[in-house]
Amino acid sequence: MFFDDDDELIGGDDRLVQSTKGEYDYEENVLRPKTLDGYVGQTKVKDNLKVYMSAAKRRGEALEHVLLYGAPGLGKTTLAHIISNEMGGNLKLTSAPAIERGGDLAAILTNLNEGDVLFIDEIHRLNHSVEEILYSAMEDYALDIIVGKGPSARNIRFTLKKFTLIGATTRAGMIANPLRDRFGIICRLETYTPDELKQIVMHSAGKLNIGIEDAAASEISRRSRGTPRIANRLLKRVRDFSTVNDNEKVTLADAKYALKQMEVDDLGLDEVDRALLRAMIEKFDGRPVGLETLAATINEDAGTIEDVYEPYLLQLGFIARTPRGRMVLRGGYEHLGYKMSDKQLKQISLFDKGDGD
Ligand SMILES: Nc1ncnc2c1ncn2[C@@H]1O[C@H](COP(=O)(O)OP(=O)(O)O)[C@@H](O)[C@H]1O
Ligand SMILES: [Mg+2]
Repeated sequence: MFFDDDDELIGGDDRLVQSTKGEYDYEENVLRPKTLDGYVGQTKVKDNLKVYMSAAKRRGEALEHVLLYGAPGLGKTTLAHIISNEMGGNLKLTSAPAIERGGDLAAILTNLNEGDVLFIDEIHRLNHSVEEILYSAMEDYALDIIVGKGPSARNIRFTLKKFTLIGATTRAGMIANPLRDRFGIICRLETYTPDELKQIVMHSAGKLNIGIEDAAASEISRRSRGTPRIANRLLKRVRDFSTVNDNEKVTLADAKYALKQMEVDDLGLDEVDRALLRAMIEKFDGRPVGLETLAATINEDAGTIEDVYEPYLLQLGFIARTPRGRMVLRGGYEHLGYKMSDKQLKQISLFDKGDGD
């Protein structure tokens, strides 16, 4: 939750530039590219996967387990679909919070066939007992189950079909080492360049039957925070504005007008980002703020601030994580039109050239 000065709710799941999946992303499956060649950008990841996949195919083996990490909306789920497609197996999608007990995971695993792909989203959130079961499943394709209690308890080992686990996470640092070590392939997804996002926007426009001017597609791409999910979402919203105006094609003027109405600024910041920056500047006078304090001030979960709000502001160099807390840097002040006081200038002088960590 996040409220602005007038106590209006401005955060939440419906935030337009939020990179996590929300209500507006219902067409997501339609827009997913089906093949590696249709997957825009991420060249390094694609090149590596191509090699691993064709080697596995040639040997007639299942692909090694894959760990995908990167911010929400960068294409992890899409890539899992593509991998299972290209490897010719079935895809079973689940997420760590949905697997509550070891038995749940055992049921999923025993239903997999040779070459199937099991996708576990948010894999850093697996609970410990489930994780233990996963270890032997990943390593030996075996399931060890203890039957009975006390002295009569026995260990029964089931053999599983050779499957591929694809784990996705936004927080690679939160994965336990023994789990991470069991992934043969680890891929880190990067944010996309405006050119790559433009390709995605043009492609999505084609699929959704939206006519769009080249310049309008560029404008949307520039304001999408490097994230395909946001680019697709902005495209759909901008289209709504054009439709209402009876335009056949989304023009640059439409795009600019729509983005302005939606309060997405030139850099893709929305009201939530700006409110966060304003709170740091005004309530703390530019001093370093601890994550927990900040979270309490704006009534938001610390993890959400770290995962959802901060990454793009860090990337822009608008804030820094200093040993004493978060600080707004010069770019942040300037973007919001603040003139820095001498005291504020002095505060940031140590950090403004740093890499943000
Ligand atoms: N490399 C890409 N090329 C084309 N479209 C992409 C790419 N990555 C993501 N997308 C699009 O962005 C949306 C979100 O991707 P998704 O895989 O669900 O992200 P994540 O699972 O990382 O949160 C999907 O609709 C997908 O079509
Ligand atoms: Mg996903």
